[in-house]
Amino acid sequence: MTDTFPGLCAQSLSILNNVNAKLASGFDDLPSVERSALLDSLEPILASTAQELQNNYPYHHPFYLGQMMKPPHPIAQLAYTLAMSINPNNHALDGGKASSAMEKEAVQQIAAMFGWSNALGHLCGGGTIANLEALWVAREFTDNKPVAVSSQAHYTHSRCCSLLDIECRIIECEANGRMDIASLQRQLDAEEIGTVVVTLGTTALGAIDPLEEVLELQKSYGFRIHIDSAYGGYFKLAQNLSEYATRQYELMHHADSIVIDPHKHGLQPYGCGCVLFNDPQSAKVFKHDSPYTYFSSDDLHLGEISLECSRAGAAAVALWSTLQLFPLEVESEFAKRLESSISAAKKLHDWLEESSYYQPVMVPELDIVVWTAHAESASKASQNARDIFNAAAKQNLHLALVTLPRHLVEGSSTIKNWDQPEVTCLRACVMKPEHLEWMPRILEKLNQATEA
Ligand SMILES: Cc1ncc(COP(=O)(O)O)c(C=O)c1O
Repeated sequence: MTDTFPGLCAQSLSILNNVNAKLASGFDDLPSVERSALLDSLEPILASTAQELQNNYPYHHPFYLGQMMKPPHPIAQLAYTLAMSINPNNHALDGGKASSAMEKEAVQQIAAMFGWSNALGHLCGGGTIANLEALWVAREFTDNKPVAVSSQAHYTHSRCCSLLDIECRIIECEANGRMDIASLQRQLDAEEIGTVVVTLGTTALGAIDPLEEVLELQKSYGFRIHIDSAYGGYFKLAQNLSEYATRQYELMHHADSIVIDPHKHGLQPYGCGCVLFNDPQSAKVFKHDSPYTYFSSDDLHLGEISLECSRAGAAAVALWSTLQLFPLEVESEFAKRLESSISAAKKLHDWLEESSYYQPVMVPELDIVVWTAHAESASKASQNARDIFNAAAKQNLHLALVTLPRHLVEGSSTIKNWDQPEVTCLRACVMKPEHLEWMPRILEKLNQATEA
């Protein structure tokens, strides 16, 4: 593997060759089949493919801090590729016998991280499908009552509610990006809410909703709690969270459902979300007849408890293998990597705070940092952020932009003239394990972009 590119290197391809032979040996008792793989034609086509793929931002590199992206670990890449040779389908045990067992095991390990020993859960395409399923089950258990989400929750929730034909109430946020409990209580007084969505790690700011206070309200109002930790779930293992964040994470087992995306912080390729239900009875919502599948075993077929039908068994194989290398334990190598991302975010935050040109919007709870550029007016601050975003990209430092409402920013920024109701800020997802070590070089580039 080279310094800059995370593709499979000669050594990993040699491992793949060996384990592929090992897999093939399990089917030795079958007569061999003539197949034309057209191998001679592959290289020129794949060279054009590689050429096309060069038209990308360098997502894999520490100088990329834009979207929530990090390269899958080589163990996941290798396991996924290995599994693809038999291309299992985890819809039914019939199509994905071994990989379904691996999925059940991997999902139980994730559930155990949250303190659940008897959860119902499965993998799925990603955070959106996982949240859709959680809200679907919630709807069935709450008699179609409305869902409450914070204004900083992922936009997927209001879309899912619309798909599910349930009302979605937007609860205001405090200046620190957390759901405002007084606003939630007002909503609860105004009408019966079926489900409150608590986001542990919001997409824009990495803010942590006050689960502890939501649980207090639950005692009086009796709603369901769904935790969207698609991005932030794995930080359950981090030991360097703030006291506040640690407390919220410690209470996760009280939720009815949890979403976490192994394709965000779990080192997996895209196409790997996970939804968990504390109550195994949730399975009844998924109940259906399938005349085509479920014929080889009376054991649970994952399709019987999931919305999607065909699903990549390879995704489960990749996750299972990754969990052998990186068990979900505190103080593990995996946990240390997450802790290092938090430390990197704090370093960037401290630098911004020292700077005379930038103001961080909040102290990062996880590994997302958001900041404003200095200006008198909101429109000029937005323009400055966009200019710096472009100047940084020219230096090969790839940041993100995020537009935030005035009330989240005015306490921290130097903006005096609010000539528009929102402001565009700079944002960095400091989520790669190398980011801490690379922070001095990142700051040097940010400095150059600022001067430019
Ligand atoms: C908190 C949260 N929920 C849901 C999603 C949607 O997940 P996906 O993009 O995997 O569908 C995201 C994506 O960033 C997220 O951050």
